[in-house]
Amino acid sequence: MRAFFIAITVLQFLEAINTASLSAKSKGSLPETLEPEDRAVTRAIEAEIRAKTKRVACSSDEIDSPAARNGIISTKARWEDFYIYIGEEYSDKHRTLINNAAYRLSQVIPCVDFRIWRKGEKPSEDYEGTYLHVMKTGEGCWSYTGKVFEGAQNISLDNGCMSVGTIMHEMIHALGFRHEQCRPDRDDYITIYLQNVIPGKEHNFKKYSYQEVTTYNVTYDTKSLMHYDSYAFSGNEKPTMLTKTGGKIADPEELAPGDITKLKRMYNC
Ligand SMILES: *[C@@H]1O[C@H](CO)[C@@H](O)[C@H](O)[C@H]1NC(C)=O
Ligand SMILES: *[C@@H]1O[C@H](CO)[C@@H](O)[C@H](O)[C@H]1NC(C)=O
Repeated sequence: MRAFFIAITVLQFLEAINTASLSAKSKGSLPETLEPEDRAVTRAIEAEIRAKTKRVACSSDEIDSPAARNGIISTKARWEDFYIYIGEEYSDKHRTLINNAAYRLSQVIPCVDFRIWRKGEKPSEDYEGTYLHVMKTGEGCWSYTGKVFEGAQNISLDNGCMSVGTIMHEMIHALGFRHEQCRPDRDDYITIYLQNVIPGKEHNFKKYSYQEVTTYNVTYDTKSLMHYDSYAFSGNEKPTMLTKTGGKIADPEELAPGDITKLKRMYNC
């Protein structure tokens, strides 16, 4: 019985610390926790969107910023809490998909505190922590790699990016991962055809060194959610990338087991 009361007290104490650190960080409204996902609702919204909206041809672009140069090795680029502000331009259905993508990731790395500002609420101008500002930019789907800004860190999700898989893909960039085909060991698994890439988009096929990225000892996987499909950034309808045996790589919609392992290892949870 006594142990029980001690446990309760400790919990209340931890909660008090939590609340104190939250209010110290923000003077405006606080984000709420995520709504649990109903997969049937996700599927219905995705089907409706697919029927109306053409999915963007490239799965996503990746933005290099100097602070992210060391990308996933730099622990400075990690998030302790992953707070999300969804721009007012999104419909309720889009908000649900963004929530559900974040919810799935929060289940993978439960030691990171995922929250979303309620509809109609937003971080105050002088909000001190970094948060993700989800916005439609007209530039397709992109994200910075890792946590690289103070205050708002933009992430672009246009109408063509509205599937839980694509949203998770971009959020995993924000969490600190580059594309699977940027891994130092990629040439053992795939062949890149730069001659088929849209001129100016070659940076998306850059290979990083072991000093810049770590594979967390997870085997290369062409089914990773962070892998491009065979026609990503193709300028001539020919494949930009094939497996070593000449196979096509599809655009995945789900987290691969290796994606889960890598996220858990990066965030130690
Ligand atoms: C983020 O988006 C806002 C609104 O469009 C813009 O004013 C700001 O410059 C962007 N931030 C960065 C770092 O690009
Ligand atoms: C990867 O495996 C090697 C050898 O098994 C080990 O020494 C190293 O610490 C591992 N690295 C990570 C990041 O798990």
